[in-house]
Amino acid sequence: MTEREDDLDLRLRRCREEVDREIERLLGKDSGIPERLREAMGYSLRAGGKRLRPFLCISAAELSGCPAESVLPMAVALEMFHTASLIHDDLPCMDNDPLRRGKPSNHMVFGEGLATLAGDSLLLWAFETAILNLLPVFPAERILGAISEFAKAIGPSGVCAGQVLDTDPSSRESEVDFVWKIASLKTGALIRASVLAGGILGGLEDVKMEALYNYGTHLGLAFQVVDDILDVTGNSEQIGKTPGKDSVQGKITFVSTYGMEKARRIARDESLKAIESLSCFGPEADPLRSLARVLLDRSS
Ligand code: IPE
Ligand code: IPE
Ligand code: MG
Ligand code: MG
Ligand code: MG
Repeated sequence: MTEREDDLDLRLRRCREEVDREIERLLGKDSGIPERLREAMGYSLRAGGKRLRPFLCISAAELSGCPAESVLPMAVALEMFHTASLIHDDLPCMDNDPLRRGKPSNHMVFGEGLATLAGDSLLLWAFETAILNLLPVFPAERILGAISEFAKAIGPSGVCAGQVLDTDPSSRESEVDFVWKIASLKTGALIRASVLAGGILGGLEDVKMEALYNYGTHLGLAFQVVDDILDVTGNSEQIGKTPGKDSVQGKITFVSTYGMEKARRIARDESLKAIESLSCFGPEADPLRSLARVLLDRSS
């Protein structure tokens, strides 16, 4: 492990710990959430996960010297929505996956009804958490800016659109670049919004926001290519979900569209483009650069 990756490892661990601590605080007994719903939400939030989106948000905010602690509510909100999207993604009416984050999926433990509501609750709780906890710290226009990016990324022209294109056969398009559209919506949009939200809260100027936009776009694509590769090459212990499902379900993925070798090349190219996008930053962007580099290692 290089010194830089070692440093990234440490940063990722710290981010995970801070996010997990905040999640525990919010899930506390006085949250007013009915017990069974609280259990279902907590089950998936606590099941692990790389906490990549919070890391992106915090690292982007730190580019302008904004402390991690102040953007933590936004970081946690991103993770809440992400977890909601995974609960819904695993439902029998979607990808029908019984395994997530190395544990039985939410609906396997709590049933489909409660899993659906736990996902809905996490999605809405994300907004409540971000708005209420950011208000005392940031000017209202920055909060509005960050929340707007988040909302746009996950709605009917973002993640939801991507999930429809991914799961609804009648929405399929025959063009070879359809897979890029699916990936940039179902996965890329939230990854990009994570860095943008951090950048906006930190008050970055326009040129640097544009750089973050490009970084998030390329990283998001690289991330989904690697996820598609791991579905083929990974085992359930490594990926914490059922491997090989994409081809069984006839999904359009980078591997099904381009083959494994070219998919690997695309992952590499997109990661490199993500790193190049950060050329206007100095060493303060090294955590974001290292993350793009380490992401590649997951697929090889
Ligand atoms: C999985 O995301 C779903 C995709 C968008 C491909 P992650 O690989 O970030 O999942 P966790 O959060 O680590 O479980
Ligand atoms: C999921 O894509 C993207 C979202 C959850 C929005 P996948 O269906 O490829 O994710 P995994 O492989 O189940 O994690
Ligand atoms: Mg899916
Ligand atoms: Mg899935
Ligand atoms: Mg997948």
